Amino acid sequence: MSIDVSTTAEWQALQTHAEKIRDTHLRDLFAADPHRGERLTGQVADLYVDYSKNRVTDETLALLTALADRVGLRDRIAAMFGGEHINTSEDRAVLHTALRLPRDARLVVDGQDVVADVHAVLDRMAAFAERVRSGEWRGHTGKPIRTVVNIGIGGSDLGPVMAYEALKAYRDTDITCRFVSNIDPTDLYDKTHDLDPETTLFIVASKTFSTLETLTNAKQARQWLLAKLGADESAVAKHFVAVSTSEQRVRDFGIDPANMFGFWDWVGGRYSYDSAVGLSLMLAIGPERFREMLAGFHAVDEHFRRAPIERNVPVLMGLLNVWYNNFLGAQTHAVLPYSQYLHRFPAYLQQLTMESLGKSVRADGTPVTCQTGEIFWGEPGTNGQHAFYQLLHQGTKLVPADFIAFSEPNHDLDAMHDLFMSNFFAQTAALAFGRTREEIEAEGTPAAVVPHKVMPGNRPTTSILAPKLTPSTLGQLVALYEHITFTEGMIWGIDPFDQWGVELGKVMANRLAPLLTSAEAPKLDQDSSTNALIARYRAERGR
Ligand code: F6P
Repeated sequence: MSIDVSTTAEWQALQTHAEKIRDTHLRDLFAADPHRGERLTGQVADLYVDYSKNRVTDETLALLTALADRVGLRDRIAAMFGGEHINTSEDRAVLHTALRLPRDARLVVDGQDVVADVHAVLDRMAAFAERVRSGEWRGHTGKPIRTVVNIGIGGSDLGPVMAYEALKAYRDTDITCRFVSNIDPTDLYDKTHDLDPETTLFIVASKTFSTLETLTNAKQARQWLLAKLGADESAVAKHFVAVSTSEQRVRDFGIDPANMFGFWDWVGGRYSYDSAVGLSLMLAIGPERFREMLAGFHAVDEHFRRAPIERNVPVLMGLLNVWYNNFLGAQTHAVLPYSQYLHRFPAYLQQLTMESLGKSVRADGTPVTCQTGEIFWGEPGTNGQHAFYQLLHQGTKLVPADFIAFSEPNHDLDAMHDLFMSNFFAQTAALAFGRTREEIEAEGTPAAVVPHKVMPGNRPTTSILAPKLTPSTLGQLVALYEHITFTEGMIWGIDPFDQWGVELGKVMANRLAPLLTSAEAPKLDQDSSTNALIARYRAERGR
């Protein structure tokens, strides 16, 4: 049985400490230590991380790192990098970090040379990407590819879309990508109806190659293609490639395994966009930049693996999340990128963090006795400022937030970038320090309005500042959050690499599908609600 973290002396010490400092204000913490803003910072690869505006003292940090030691975090990190089967409920190794090992590294897991396998696939992807990008790869009617449509969902969609958007400034080809994920046919229709099938390439990305949404969309896409290209089945080989761990299922679907790019069961879906799942991204930015991104991931992996716990940035950020979630009662965590190009980053993080950490039992199957995964959410600044920041500033909820920004823009609108960045700096300062009643009264504000203008402050934030949004810094950011997630999972003793909770809905959707067209009245046991909803739907569809 794994350790129940909430019964440890380290946990109890944190609880006592939380009571003691619950009302301590960031204003006082900064006043007491003029160097706090330089001291409580860290550097991981190119990312400068300022965690000084968090509601912690040196004692809090010491107690949190003691908790990390108590659960054996260092050993757990070593176990992951070493390829042990730490995904216990699926009995699998967890080796997304191997996807970015350099070619000359060595890692043999379960008798297999993992690095050689990874680079063999990367080389095949690169060769394919060059052929498509150069126009050498031709469609069925001899035309070069102009649009790539990635069909996938969850980890086979969110990472590629996020990175494709994030690295817009690095796309250097006439090829554009579109992403179809939802089984709502509107998505497929919307992304294909104006395309020329002769110049379209579909990537069907699915780890299992059994996901209902993806296979349904892929079948429909194949029909669309064949209908437009004269029902000649040989067209499929020129317009469909697959990314999967299952060669047999790819073959059964009708895609030649020669056009398949593989990965392995030790890559979790939500940890997979740096595998062949990122093929669409590689087509857009080219193999060289894709490799720069992998090097960025690797730099953070090395830090996570080797830096001492008290200077280990992902560990510290993970521990801060635990602090707010378990000791100060926060329910959610905002991620606020000050970069329009990162507009899909919060959505990507939602799967990474919430599919990983939304668990109620520990790795050994016993129930957890503390809160686990927080709700991650966010929007790019400054749009969020004019939407939900009011609640962050003056609401009653505690919402720790990560602010992410880049010193150099990806364009030459320099002065505007300065103005934009002044918002980034202003917001974390306003959240931390607020405005007191005295300051507001001193401005001559009418007495009745004063309480409305008081900004309580003491709202915790972490600032992440990188020199520029590049393939490398994007890889660094993603690896940072992967390892934050790992840290939280290990503290709670859960398995952050399985996702059994999404299975039931999938099974039930398959079971319900025939009822929507059947002539018989829906009769689900003890579910008059769903029975009535289906009956109404059928009536409205004239069935
Ligand atoms: O939503 C559950 C899930 O299994 C995710 O973990 C995964 O990323 C997604 O479905 C897609 O799975 P696949 O890549 O096998 O199609």
